[in-house]
Amino acid sequence: MSKFSLILLYLNFLFTISSSSTLIPLGSTLQASNRNQSWSSPNTSFSLSFIPVTPSSFVAAITYNAGDVIVWSASDGSNGTGDGASLVVNSGGTLNLLSNGALRLTNGSGAIVWDSATANRGVSHASLDDLGNFQLLNNESVPIWSSFQNPTDTLVPSQNFTVGMILRSGSYSLTLDRSANLTLNWNDTIEYWSLGFNSSINGNLTSPRFMLQSNGILVGLDPSFARGMINMAFTTDYGESNDVFRFLRMDNDGNLRIYSSSTGNNGSGNITQTWAAVTDQCQVYGFCGNMGICSYKDSKPVCGCPSQNFEPVNEHDGRKGCKRKVEIEDCPGDVTMLQLEHTMFLTYPPELSDQLVTLAIVACRTNCLASSTCTASTLVADGSGFCYLKTPDFVSGYQGAVLPSTSFIKVCGQAIPNPSPYQEASAKDNDSLHTMVIVSVVMASLLALVVVGIGFWCLLYSNRNKSGRMSVQYELVDYASGAPVKFSYKELQQSTKGFSERLGEGGFGAVYKGTLANRMVVAVKQLEGIEQGERQFRIKVATISSTHHLNLVRLVGFRCEGRHRLLVYEFLKNGSLDKFLFTSKDQSGKSLKWENRFNIALGTARGITYLHEECRDCIIHCDIKPENILLDEAYTAKVSDFGLARLMNPKDHRHLSLASIRGTRGYLAPEWLANHPITSK
Ligand SMILES: *[C@@H]1O[C@H](CO)[C@@H](O)[C@H](O)[C@H]1NC(C)=O
Ligand SMILES: *[C@@H]1O[C@H](CO)[C@@H](O)[C@H](O)[C@H]1NC(C)=O
Ligand SMILES: *[C@@H]1O[C@H](CO)[C@@H](O)[C@H](O)[C@H]1NC(C)=O
Ligand SMILES: *[C@@H]1O[C@H](CO)[C@@H](O)[C@H](O)[C@H]1NC(C)=O
Ligand SMILES: *[C@@H]1O[C@H](CO)[C@@H](O)[C@H](O)[C@H]1NC(C)=O
Ligand SMILES: *[C@@H]1O[C@H](CO)[C@@H](O)[C@H](O)[C@H]1NC(C)=O
Ligand SMILES: *[C@@H]1O[C@H](CO)[C@@H](O)[C@H](O)[C@H]1NC(C)=O
Ligand SMILES: *[C@@H]1O[C@H](CO)[C@@H](O)[C@H](O)[C@H]1NC(C)=O
Ligand SMILES: *[C@@H]1O[C@H](CO)[C@@H](O)[C@H](O)[C@H]1NC(C)=O
Ligand SMILES: *[C@@H]1O[C@H](CO)[C@@H](O)[C@H](O)[C@H]1NC(C)=O
Ligand SMILES: *[C@@H]1O[C@H](CO)[C@@H](O)[C@H](O)[C@H]1NC(C)=O
Ligand SMILES: *[C@@H]1O[C@H](CO)[C@@H](O)[C@H](O)[C@H]1NC(C)=O
Repeated sequence: MSKFSLILLYLNFLFTISSSSTLIPLGSTLQASNRNQSWSSPNTSFSLSFIPVTPSSFVAAITYNAGDVIVWSASDGSNGTGDGASLVVNSGGTLNLLSNGALRLTNGSGAIVWDSATANRGVSHASLDDLGNFQLLNNESVPIWSSFQNPTDTLVPSQNFTVGMILRSGSYSLTLDRSANLTLNWNDTIEYWSLGFNSSINGNLTSPRFMLQSNGILVGLDPSFARGMINMAFTTDYGESNDVFRFLRMDNDGNLRIYSSSTGNNGSGNITQTWAAVTDQCQVYGFCGNMGICSYKDSKPVCGCPSQNFEPVNEHDGRKGCKRKVEIEDCPGDVTMLQLEHTMFLTYPPELSDQLVTLAIVACRTNCLASSTCTASTLVADGSGFCYLKTPDFVSGYQGAVLPSTSFIKVCGQAIPNPSPYQEASAKDNDSLHTMVIVSVVMASLLALVVVGIGFWCLLYSNRNKSGRMSVQYELVDYASGAPVKFSYKELQQSTKGFSERLGEGGFGAVYKGTLANRMVVAVKQLEGIEQGERQFRIKVATISSTHHLNLVRLVGFRCEGRHRLLVYEFLKNGSLDKFLFTSKDQSGKSLKWENRFNIALGTARGITYLHEECRDCIIHCDIKPENILLDEAYTAKVSDFGLARLMNPKDHRHLSLASIRGTRGYLAPEWLANHPITSK
């Protein structure tokens, strides 16, 4: 390019500073105080300008569609370090393309806030193209520096994300390694999410890169791929309409998301999320800070502290984490383990391998207590018996009613639990708990007498000497601490999409499929004809939910508002056994292997044995039939519908006639019919 044309361009630039321009000559300047100044791409899709954060502070940023979306900013993380925060200047701030070729951001005071480090490297001009790439180029149009090579937290379509690049936001970062593993990291150390190619192609990569296509597909590319690219992720609106601008952003809550901005005609774009890397936000390591506990409320993740032995670091920002009111060092000899039910401390690589031991629940607590380096431990109650001892200072918690996990954390002195959101009964009635206990005991006793009196019983207590009324009292006190989740009708309506997906009709009512806020898939059973009081219902629900066994369907929660009662169970993929047994011969696809048949028989027997003989408050099932034996994806048998007979209305005298017994003819225990005493046999 000749000097003459550059001078022309420069003059042109001076006179029409806000017009679109391809080339930005050396010596150009943007001032934060002048909102009309910007360097725009030829078709004005993108522009570099000062964007106000508050009326008196600004960031220098490349934006899409007149400020709708910031796709790059001069930030702390632009050179790979820092926390990725945009650098804020006051109204005296300027962005200069110096005559030595450096792009420099200065604050009103004259202090250098950011620099592209391209001084004296042959930069002859700058440009911003229609893809959103701002480049500092030499006289042969070779880029010396570009915003695409130095991303902050956002990638736009066609921008390459290659090995060595980092998208950064606070403690979180996104990187790509040589084997094309795209990973999300916390503090550059803990890797809590990854997306990689099929391992069969990992070996031969030369320069892998990821790219968001403008059609909403995140692709992986490598020169070695015969077919060019591999689709890695799809947005919910991929392939749709051309006037949608999509971008991928490393958000400061640790999630990587793709958004769509409907470009509309006049700005004010409507930005919607169309993909997220981590679907369960509480699984993002450190989301609630150190010792913070993430849980869901109204389907939104919220942060809290483990117990009242802790307080938030910042009262107004739960994500900053929690601290002990009394530090462990300050109370030698008085350290105890706080026990947190349904809670796990997240454990991701590289922590994973060296912290794991197989321990029972008591040992998981005591081993940590005895160790001077252990701060917390978490036991995954999935049958593996894995106990993770957390030795680093940082622990990141997740509490959810359906998490099969118990955790412990060291506290000074006596543990003072939080009023748990999952035990509404005990939480709400805390002050009046004593009154409630007394009132309930009296009511329960009366009811229990009625129950015993009319001979309606389908349960055995292991200790037959205990009177019925003692047992009810015992239940109430004992289960106050382990009650299952109480859902609201709205929650269940949301999670079942308005009870739209019917799974079937059980002996006690219809069953619907649903998905809870934390993505757990559940079966919601609508009980019919149950007229007990709410508290009675809860006690029985507590009994059912305290009955845990591999071969029993797990009760997750319940709802009891008004007359209608709902129970929420884990969802089992393969449905009930009758579907396999009672199919016509031509449906051979549904037949079971002999190994599975044997295991189902064994599993069912184990489940029933546990119910009838081994668990603390024995429950006689009364209705063992193929419809009540459910199969998970590994064809493990799980008995369902246990304990429900107890929920029937005891005042309903019709139960004495055979017709109204809720069991199924042909599967009933003979004692039922002959009026013999019921035994576990
Ligand atoms: C910016 O533009 C507005 C209208 O477009 C105009 O009124 C104002 O004077 C301009 N300000 C400067 C500093 O050029
Ligand atoms: C990155 O920039 C910061 C200031 O912006 C500077 O202190 C640091 O030395 C730079 N790091 C590298 C590796 O250039
Ligand atoms: C710029 O100056 C303002 C006020 O003088 C100050 O608040 C701000 O922190 C400065 N920005 C940077 C990045 O140093
Ligand atoms: C600007 O150019 C880019 C790339 O050619 C194109 O995708 C975009 O739709 C254009 N924008 C407008 C407003 O014309
Ligand atoms: C670019 O500049 C170098 C010296 O900096 C010079 O040798 C070269 O001829 C120039 N190229 C063009 C195309 O002007
Ligand atoms: C992305 O990388 C490929 C291969 O290195 C290159 O051909 C292409 O121009 C790059 N795209 C951009 C927008 O830089
Ligand atoms: C990619 O990351 C996952 C998860 O950490 C890991 O299991 C896998 O081995 C990695 N792949 C390669 C090729 O490193
Ligand atoms: C973050 O990692 C560094 C080492 O990479 C470590 O020194 C620091 O303690 C870590 N921060 C936290 C909060 O664990
Ligand atoms: C990986 O690729 C091979 C061959 O292309 C294919 O057989 C295999 O199923 C793939 N695995 C996964 C997990 O996609
Ligand atoms: C990778 O390279 C090896 C030899 O280097 C070759 O045997 C193999 O087929 C290649 N795999 C693919 C998927 O190209
Ligand atoms: C956009 O703005 C132009 C003029 O400013 C107006 O004529 C047009 O109706 C607007 N379009 C929409 C969709 O608001
Ligand atoms: C924004 O998008 C959502 C979903 O696409 C739509 O429901 C909503 O009406 C849109 N809002 C506006 C202002 O266009």
